[in-house]
This record gives sequence, structure tokens and C-alpha cells, in this order.
Amino acid sequence: MQYLLDTAEIESIKKAFELYPLDGVTTNPSIIAKENKDFISLLNQIRNIIGEDKMLHVQVLAKNAEQMIKEAKYLKNKIGGNIYIKIPVTAQGIKAIKSLKPHNYQITATAIFTPQQALMAAKAGADFVAPYVNRISNTNVSGIKVVREIIHLLKENNLKTKVLAASFKNIQQIHEVTLNGAQAITAPVELTEKLLEHSGTSNSVEEFIKDWETIYGKGNLTY
Ligand code: E4P
Repeated sequence: MQYLLDTAEIESIKKAFELYPLDGVTTNPSIIAKENKDFISLLNQIRNIIGEDKMLHVQVLAKNAEQMIKEAKYLKNKIGGNIYIKIPVTAQGIKAIKSLKPHNYQITATAIFTPQQALMAAKAGADFVAPYVNRISNTNVSGIKVVREIIHLLKENNLKTKVLAASFKNIQQIHEVTLNGAQAITAPVELTEKLLEHSGTSNSVEEFIKDWETIYGKGNLTY
């Protein structure tokens, strides 16, 4: 299971990478635009925080394959490290994936709403497919079911492409895609924090300390 952070906000990335066992960062043009900073220096700042080995997923903006390919080359040259180029699963996107794959690009096919889009992207050579779980559920189709069907199709077709489930609004959605076999999820900081929170845990910790202090007084184990 791989956990990624779906943000380009520098302070959140620093804090979250200190705390959690994270495998990378995902961005998209909307996430980048929120920061309103120089695009390449922002991505390089993220790269410096997370290190060369962690995944950094960056999306192309173009709608036609030729320009997508140019943008992919540009991003790979300017950012480097373990970079994944995110390409939406339009017909032009699939064409770009087919062209880039033989040239050693790591690719995440994104904006996936149906199992057939994922299968097509996987056959074109995508390393990850990214179904948008909550956005799918907002169209009256179960996002979880779509993820389950994608996993089934990839397995049936002996494809090595992994599922990076994205677009979550609650931790139950994250839990369900994980249970159904998604190999990776990307979530905003607020949801990542919630994956650990439980009143039972914090109450237990408070009780341990209270019991200890009743006998030994305030302090810690090292003195
Ligand atoms: C990640 O790669 C996606 O772009 C993102 O998770 C979409 O999430 P949203 O539906 O919350 O915008």
C-alpha cells in the first residue's frame, strides 16, 4: 500500500512528510494554481522536501498529444527524480501515453471515471491509473465499484498497471478502495490526518498518563 499527499502546499508537505510514512506527492493544474507561485520552482521545492526517491506526480496541461509529449519532456528535464507524468485519459492522452512509454517515462493516467478508460490506459502503457472516487460517486455511480472493476480487469488481462485511487471526501472511501486492492491512494492533508485519529486512541493515551502520574508524579520515563 502506498500513501501519497494530494497537495502542492509547502508547509503541509513538510509537516506531513515528517509525520507519516508517505510515498509521494500528487498535483494537478488546479492544485498548483491554488498556490499561485512559479510552477517549476514550486515543484522543485516539493522535490527537495520529499527527496529524489519519492514519487512526484505532475500533470500536463495540453489537450493534444504532441503538446502533451513536449510538456512531459519539459517536466522530466526540469524536475527530475522519481517523476510520474499525469496524462488525462482522452483519446489524445492515450496517444501521448503510447508515444512516451517506450522512452522510459513513468506515467499516471488520470481523470478516470470508467473501468474501460483504465483498461485502455493500462494497455497503452500507463504505470498507474487514477480513478476519481468521489467525483465518480457524484455522478450516481459507486466510485468504489469502479475501482473494484478496474482491479478485476487489470488482473484478468495480466497487466502490471497499478491503481492510484484519488479524489476522496472521507476516510471510509479510502478504507474501501484499500480493502478492494488499490495499491496506492492520494489524499489531501486533512484526510491523511484523519486516517490516524480515533477518540479511543487519544483517550487511552490520556488514561495511561493519568495512571502513571497518580503513582510517580509528572515526568517521563527517562528520569
Ligand atoms: C489527484 O490526482 C486528483 O487530481 C485529485 O485527487 C482530484 O481530487 P478532487 O476531486 O478532490 O479535486
